[in-house]
Amino acid sequence: MAVRNIVKIGNATLRKKSKPVQVFDEELGNLLDDMKKTMIEKKGVGIAAVQVGVLRRAIVIEIEPEKYLEIINPTILQKKGKVVASEGCLSVPGFYTDVERPKTVKIEAYDRNGEKFEFVGKDYIARCICHEIDHLDGILFVDYTEEGKEYKREKGVE
Ligand code: NI
Repeated sequence: MAVRNIVKIGNATLRKKSKPVQVFDEELGNLLDDMKKTMIEKKGVGIAAVQVGVLRRAIVIEIEPEKYLEIINPTILQKKGKVVASEGCLSVPGFYTDVERPKTVKIEAYDRNGEKFEFVGKDYIARCICHEIDHLDGILFVDYTEEGKEYKREKGVE
């Protein structure tokens, strides 16, 4: 396992749409292992493959202390409720802004072996899942708020 470099805001890769994972092989396992290691090293709670420069629909989140969930090719099945809370991102270091997210989110996804599963995340986990799925579509949390838009203007980044 290796710690990989985090792609930061301003790099056009972050704005690209990631492609579905089609082959559930050792390379995918290595990618997920590296994503997890990188996330832990950088003290994040979620990471999308695009953040290490790989445009594939793969995510790792910490769902409990030192317990991780790998999410491949996710689809959101249901969203319930709304919560506004502070959010940050490894690709936007040092910046936080309040973002509205669903209180509960139900997803369908695949694990690293290609097995389909459903998962329901609440509160912080729902927030994290939505934030990471946004990454797969080239969306960043700074896109949602005036503070975030101001940050992009100040830094001169997209
Ligand atoms: Ni992020």
